[in-house]
Amino acid sequence: MNASARALATLLPPRFTLGVATSAFQIEGALDEDGRGPSGWDVFAAKPGAIVEDQSPAVSCDHYHRMPEDVALMKELGIDSYRFSLSWSRIQPGGSGPVNPAGLDFYDRLIDLLLANGISPMATLYHWDTPLPLDEAGGWMNRDTAYRLGEFAAIAAAAYGDRVVRWVTVNEPATLTTNGYALGVHAPGQSLMLKALPSVHHQLLGHGLSMQALRAANVTGEIGIANVYSPMVPASANPLDKVSTGLMDIAQNRLYADPVLLGKYPDLIRAATFFSPDFSPSSEDMELISQPLDFYGLNYYMPTRVGAGPGDGTVPAGMAEAMGDDLSGTPGAPFHIAPFHDTETTAYGWPIKPEYMSVALAEMAERYPTLPPVYITEGGASFEDVVVRDAAGNRTIIPDERRLRYLADHIGTAVEATSPGGAAESIDLRGYYVWSFVDNFEWSGGYKQQFGLVRVDIDTQVRTPKASFYWLQELLAARNRDAAPEVPEAFGAGLPAQAPDVERPHPVG
Ligand code: BGC
Repeated sequence: MNASARALATLLPPRFTLGVATSAFQIEGALDEDGRGPSGWDVFAAKPGAIVEDQSPAVSCDHYHRMPEDVALMKELGIDSYRFSLSWSRIQPGGSGPVNPAGLDFYDRLIDLLLANGISPMATLYHWDTPLPLDEAGGWMNRDTAYRLGEFAAIAAAAYGDRVVRWVTVNEPATLTTNGYALGVHAPGQSLMLKALPSVHHQLLGHGLSMQALRAANVTGEIGIANVYSPMVPASANPLDKVSTGLMDIAQNRLYADPVLLGKYPDLIRAATFFSPDFSPSSEDMELISQPLDFYGLNYYMPTRVGAGPGDGTVPAGMAEAMGDDLSGTPGAPFHIAPFHDTETTAYGWPIKPEYMSVALAEMAERYPTLPPVYITEGGASFEDVVVRDAAGNRTIIPDERRLRYLADHIGTAVEATSPGGAAESIDLRGYYVWSFVDNFEWSGGYKQQFGLVRVDIDTQVRTPKASFYWLQELLAARNRDAAPEVPEAFGAGLPAQAPDVERPHPVG
C-alpha cells in the first residue's frame, strides 16, 4: 500500500469521514477541579505498581484547561470529526443524583467550539472511567450500574442532544471486562476470570438503556456502540490450536458483537452460565441490547494468533497487557497468544498486519448480515517517537513514518475491502477515527505508549505535531469531498458563525 497522502486521497469515497479520537480520563487531568467526583480509575492509578513507573493521570495533557488550544490544532489539521468521551464523574460526580453544572459547561463549550470550527462532535458516553461510588457498589458486576448509565445518557441527551452528530454509548466492553474484571490490570482491578461474565452483560445492558434514553430524548445525532474486533488466527493446523482460536474468538469478539447484532449470546456462553449464576440474560434485556443501531463502531488494531496450552511466554509484555492475556506462559493455562513470525510490531508489541483489517471487515460482513453502516471508531499505533531539533530551521521535527504508514495502510485496506469487488463489499464504511489525536495517559501503560498525531510534552505541555499529523493534513486537503459539509445544518443552529478566537500559544513545527 502506498503511504502517499495524495494516492490514498484518490481512493476515499467522497463522503468518507476522517476523525481523531481521545477519551476523557486519558487527556483531561484536573481530576479534583470544578466539582468533579473521583472515578474508579483515580483510585486504581494511585496504587503502587498499577501504572508503568507509577505515572499519574492527575495532569495528563491538561486538556481541561487547554481545550481551545487543542481544538485550534484540530482545525489546523482540517479534521472532519472529533471523538471524545464525557467524564461521567465530572458531569454527575456521584454516578447518580445531582448534576455538576461546571462539568456540563465544559462539554458545552467543547461542542460549540467544534461546531463553530466545522468539526462534528462524536461523544462517547462511557469510556471506562466509572464514578467511584458505583465502582464501590460493585461496578459492572452490579446490574444497577447499567441503569445509572441509562440515567447519565438522559442527562447528556438533554444537554447536548441538539448538537452531538454521533453518539457512542459504550467503548470496548471487551477490554474493560478482560482487563478490569477478569485479570485485574485495569480499574477496578478485579481478577475474577470466568466469573467476570456478568460485567459483560451489564455493560451491554448499559448500552441498551443508554440507547433507549437517547432515543426517548429524540437526539438529532446517530447512535452506535464501539466494539473492538481482532481476527483470530490459529498458531498452527493442530486441531487444539484451532479450538483455542475459536474460544478466543468467542471471548474477545462474538461475546460482545453477537448480543448487539444478533440479539443472543454465542451458544457456548449460554451453556457456560454455571460459572456465573448471576449471568441471567432475559429476553427483555436482549431486546434492549439489540435495538437497531444507526451505525456500528469497530475499533481495529491487530489480529491475534492463538495456540493451545500455556505457550512459552514469548509474547511481549505490552501485548499481553493490552489483550488481557495473562494466559501467555502461565503454567496450566488452556491457551496462549502466540507471536506472528517475521512481523513488525508496535512499541506495545502488537503485530502490524493491515491485511487483517480486511479480514476483520469480511468476518463482520459474513457474521452479521444486517450490519448497519460502520465507522472504524479507533485505529492507530504506539511507537517510541524521536524528537529532532532542526537548529538551522528553528523547528522541532518528529519523523514518525511508521505511524503514518500504519494509518495509510489500514485506512487504504479498509476502503478497498469495502469497495465494489472487495472482501467486505457489502459493508457501508463511513469513516475512520485515528487513535489518538494527542499522546496521552495510556491506562496501565502510562505515558510510555505514545499513539498521538501530536506529541505532548507532559512536563511542559508543549504540543508538537508529528509527521503523521502533516501527512493526515495533506490527505484531508487532497481528497475529493463533495459539497455537503460534515456538520449538517441541523446541528448547532444559532451558534456564532465565526469561530471564537483560538490561538495556539506554543509555536510548533
Ligand atoms: C481504547 C483506548 C486505548 C487504545 C490503545 C483502545 O482499547 O479504547 O482507550 O488507549 O485502545 O490501547
